[in-house]
Parts: sequence; C-alpha cells; structure tokens
Amino acid sequence: MIGKAEGPPISITGLGAYVPDRVLTNAELSTLVDTSDEWIMERTGIRERRIAAPEQALTDLALPAAQAALAQAGVEGKDIDLLLCATVTPDMMFPTSSALLADTLGARDAAAYDLLAGCTGFMYALAQAYGMLVGGLAKRALVVGGDILSRILDWDDRSTLVLFGDGAGAVVLEAVPEQGFLGFELGADGAGGANLWLPGSGSRIFDDGDRLVKMNGPEVFKFATRVLVSSAEAIMERCGVTIDDVDVYVPHQANKRIIDHATRKLGVPSDRVVINVDRYGNTSSGSIPLALADAAAEGRLKPGKLVLMTGMGAGLTWGSALIRWTKEMAR
Ligand SMILES: CC(C)(COP(=O)(O)OP(=O)(O)OC[C@H]1O[C@@H](n2cnc3c(N)ncnc32)[C@H](O)[C@@H]1OP(=O)(O)O)[C@@H](O)C(=O)NCCC(=O)NCCS
Repeated sequence: MIGKAEGPPISITGLGAYVPDRVLTNAELSTLVDTSDEWIMERTGIRERRIAAPEQALTDLALPAAQAALAQAGVEGKDIDLLLCATVTPDMMFPTSSALLADTLGARDAAAYDLLAGCTGFMYALAQAYGMLVGGLAKRALVVGGDILSRILDWDDRSTLVLFGDGAGAVVLEAVPEQGFLGFELGADGAGGANLWLPGSGSRIFDDGDRLVKMNGPEVFKFATRVLVSSAEAIMERCGVTIDDVDVYVPHQANKRIIDHATRKLGVPSDRVVINVDRYGNTSSGSIPLALADAAAEGRLKPGKLVLMTGMGAGLTWGSALIRWTKEMAR
C-alpha cells in the first residue's frame, strides 16, 4: 500500500516514551550465554537494553508514555476517540491492552484495539489512525507502540537474546492548520514470515511450539537492509521529495549495522539519523516512538522539519511515513 496524504492536515501534537529502570548490559548478558560485549558491539552496536520488572506488563510501560503524550498535546483521556496499541506482547490476548489503557486514561468514547504487525506495528497504527482521522471517523487518536520482548525471548539463545529490549512510546494525532503527514507506504511478505516467528503463540498447533522468538538472523538482515531503503525511496518518490529534503531520519532501531547500511544507500548525512539502539536494543513496536522521543529531547523535531520514519519486522512487514513536523517538542 502506498498513498500520498490528500486529506485535511493531520499531525503529531503529543509524544511520550517510557523504558523500565532495569538496565541489562552486554557484560551481564555474557554471564548468561556464550557471548561478549565485543561481539555484540561489533555485530549490532547495542551496548545495553532495558528489561521490564516481573510485575510490569505492557500497559504499565505504555501508560506513562501515553500520559506524557496527552500532556504534551494539552488534552486528556476523555478527548481521545481512537486508541490503537501496536504490540506483539499485550498484557494478554483479551481484554486488549488498548481497552485496558482506554479505561485507565478515561477515554470512554474511544474505539480501542490492538494491532499486530511485528516491529512495524507502530507504522501500521500511525497510518490507520491517520486514515480514520481524515475519513472523519475520529477526531483525536492516541497511537501507542510498545513491547516487552524479554517475555518471549529464549534466554538460552544467544543469537536473539542480545538483540532485544523493552520499551514503549505514544503519540497523539489530530488535525492541524497545515503540514503534518505527507504519505505512507506499508507492505508485507508472509513468504518470509518463518525467518522471524513465534511458533505456538496462536491457533496453529506445533509439536515443539514453545512460544519463544526464533529467527534466521542473516535472512532478516538481508530483508531489513533491502526494505529500509526500498520503502523510504518509494514514499519519497510518491510525495515528490528527495533525501536532501529529509531533515530527520528515524529508522527502526534493530541493529546499528542495518541502520548504517540504509543510511549509506539512501545517502542520508549521518547527523540527520536518529540512533538509540546502543542504549535500548530493538524494542519492537516501541522502537520508532522511542527514537522520536529521543530526537525531540535533543531538540531535533522543530516545526517545518521533514521527518522520514521507516520500520520493518516480523511478518515480514515494513512501513514508512513522511511528516512535516508541526510542533516544537522537548521531552
Ligand atoms: C543476528 C545478527 C546480529 C548476527 O550477525 P551475523 O554477522 O549475521 O552473524 P551470524 O548469524 O552469521 O553468526 C556468526 C557467528 O556468530 C555466532 N553468534 C550468534 N550470536 C552470537 C552472540 N550473541 N555472541 C557470540 N556469537 C554469536 C553464531 O553462532 C555464528 O557462529 P558460527 O559461525 O560458529 O556458526 C545479524 O544477523 C542481524 O542483526 N540480523 C537481523 C536481526 C534483526 O534485526 N531482527 C529483528 C528485526 S525486527
């Protein structure tokens, strides 16, 4: 799917993020599995990641992020009429985390549902909220992206354990006088799905389905480097902009080598790239909103700046959005 935003201007007016306190370093990981700080840094650029406390579930991470986003937008829960939560690790399958969050936030008039699109979930949710807003079905959306991947990792598998972390982010979307979203590109390739999967997590029965993440790292690496570039190029072309116009590039934070590859291929100057994978690892649906929040905290998201976001992940899926930023933001 690819589309240029033709409707009334819609933008991000609030942004929040939250990560758990517990820091898990590479050095500590190397006491759990046969790995080393040197290997992880060289192959991934990840130095440390955050891990949720046993009593924390997804909505516990999403709530402070959502509250910060609402506060920045200057609205309350009751002003939200659409709440989407992109995650592969909801508190439970039902009630949905979105319904639980809507209740806690007092968003009594909101349609609320969870959305599954692997690490690309936040990009899919953004596009869907955008569509509902321009279609006149909703006035103000809260879009949450977050995961507690530490709960579905195989803690004996060094090839996946070192890559992921926990975290969540949230944005408020609503109409603005001008600018905002320029367009979206989203895609999926189920044929590659078994390269990153969670057998046993749904209705299909597996003899050995242990509900833990399994990944063919080199295949996902190839896929990631390809789609980060092709998706970004497609949406830029559709929206009539070039990479020189992009002020802030926010790629999915999976691996520094993947980001470096995409940055080089796209021709983005390195000072325009947002990178926090070193501190958080891959937080799945939390990755892009956490990176946006970091960019905001660094004063990089200013009105008029053109921001390019591209996610990719399980499905296999990918998705990009272009937005002309409309609000001065600091965390
Ligand atoms: C996982 C990844 C970092 C592995 O890097 P790589 O350079 O492809 O490494 P390989 O998989 O070829 O493995 C090389 C060796 O390192 C070993 N290895 C794997 N994980 C290791 C670890 N944590 N520590 C030490 N050695 C490790 C492998 O067993 C392999 O050993 P072998 O050659 O004796 O078989 C890389 O493939 C990757 O980032 N893939 C994309 C993953 C991703 O982003 N997933 C989420 C998408 S949303």
